[in-house]
Amino acid sequence: MSVQEYLEKHLLSRKIEEAVNAAVRAKAPDPVLFISTHMRRAAPAVITSVRARQILDSRGEPAVEVALHTNKAVHRASAAAADAPEGTAADATRDAEKRKLLARAVADAVQVINDKVSEALVGMDPQQQAQIDQAIMDLDKAHHKDGIGMNAMLAVSIAACKAGSAEKEVPLYKHIADLVGKSATTLPVPAITVINGGTHAGNRLPIQEIMILPVGAKNFEEAMQMGSETYHHLKDIISEKYGPDSYNIGEDGGFAPNISSISEGLDLVIVAIDRAGYNGRIKLAIDVAATDFCIGKKYDLEFKFAEKSGQGFKTADDMIEIYSQLCSEYPLVSIEQPFDKDDWEHSKKFTTLELCQVVGDDLLMSDPDRIKRAVNEYTCNALVLKANQVGTVMEALEVVKQAKDAHWGVMVSHRSGDTDDSFIADLAVGAAAGQIKAGAPCRGECLTKYNQLLRIEEELGSDGVYAGGNWRTAASSS
Ligand code: PGA
Repeated sequence: MSVQEYLEKHLLSRKIEEAVNAAVRAKAPDPVLFISTHMRRAAPAVITSVRARQILDSRGEPAVEVALHTNKAVHRASAAAADAPEGTAADATRDAEKRKLLARAVADAVQVINDKVSEALVGMDPQQQAQIDQAIMDLDKAHHKDGIGMNAMLAVSIAACKAGSAEKEVPLYKHIADLVGKSATTLPVPAITVINGGTHAGNRLPIQEIMILPVGAKNFEEAMQMGSETYHHLKDIISEKYGPDSYNIGEDGGFAPNISSISEGLDLVIVAIDRAGYNGRIKLAIDVAATDFCIGKKYDLEFKFAEKSGQGFKTADDMIEIYSQLCSEYPLVSIEQPFDKDDWEHSKKFTTLELCQVVGDDLLMSDPDRIKRAVNEYTCNALVLKANQVGTVMEALEVVKQAKDAHWGVMVSHRSGDTDDSFIADLAVGAAAGQIKAGAPCRGECLTKYNQLLRIEEELGSDGVYAGGNWRTAASSS
């Protein structure tokens, strides 16, 4: 083909002329840069391939990373493959091969992406998130998504979402808000982990997390400052009381002193808040993760004791009494998963008391059917959204809508074995969740989310609104 034929085939002369004219009209100070940007925009992005690889998450366990290539750029995303409680649908793909990486490898998921998913998405416009997610779901033959695996689905879906925002030349949170059809201006209140227990730490504390909510901050930046200062005072307090070998941290970055009761942990945090000077401006939350210590119909508060006293077994009604007492003694405003994942009856009984926000984690599994039932029966009044239990970005936005329509609180959450992908920060703003839970103000995989929110707040400037005192209602009012 001659040069002339090539120019004619691709209409290059006309396109270059248009770009030059546009540069002149705009009086572009750097015409070369202007013309190259103009030409780039003239070529729409299409997905050219999707490549996956196995990386390691914050626990040192395998996770899926995806590189979604378009004709213009490469967009990376990763998704944790934290497992769901036994017997539930929201599972991730781990390899059938059990000898490698303690049976945690995700090479099968990587292969599915490189083969099936890539082939299905090639040629698609990355701005069409709904179509992309539908194509991923269509590949998934079985109802419970075990054809592909949540980890594989979500990593691809997030990478496409990042590619879509790049093509639109808007920030990721804005692109997500566009997918929902809303504006994106609400910065969430962070539920910052300060003490770890349960299965996330080797101490005797039965519950998984104690968190602080800086609802009295004027903005997200101040919320993180309050969280960080309180966290560091807590470290000193724990060291003074239990010795310097007591402030090791758990899987979400919270300290893990060898305390054994919930009130002992809350007392430590109250002293830290006081020492930091934030009395009244920081509220408390706990994630009980009660499924982990429910034995039959009883809850074993001594499930991590080497020797049990026999006094640790509590009925669900005893637990209701314990929680009610805690709500009256402490500024405790949110309790996550207070009962076993299938104990709908007591969760409802406790929620109906209206003592605090009751967050459904294992109870809901971010699953639309379980959420529907919980809304109808008023089994809880808030959703913790773990996107890798849902599968794709559009499905995640759907369950957020379900929760908002029910006037629930919405807490976008990380996973305890997480990657350094900060997507959930943009998701929390784009979906106007009002709350985000991303661990402690320490550990890289936690900070990547909080730091992204600091950037978003700076970018939004005076348009940004910190959810603050509206942390529970921000979701339903926007
Ligand atoms: P998980 O816990 O990822 O271990 O389920 C996360 C959380 O609930 O904070």
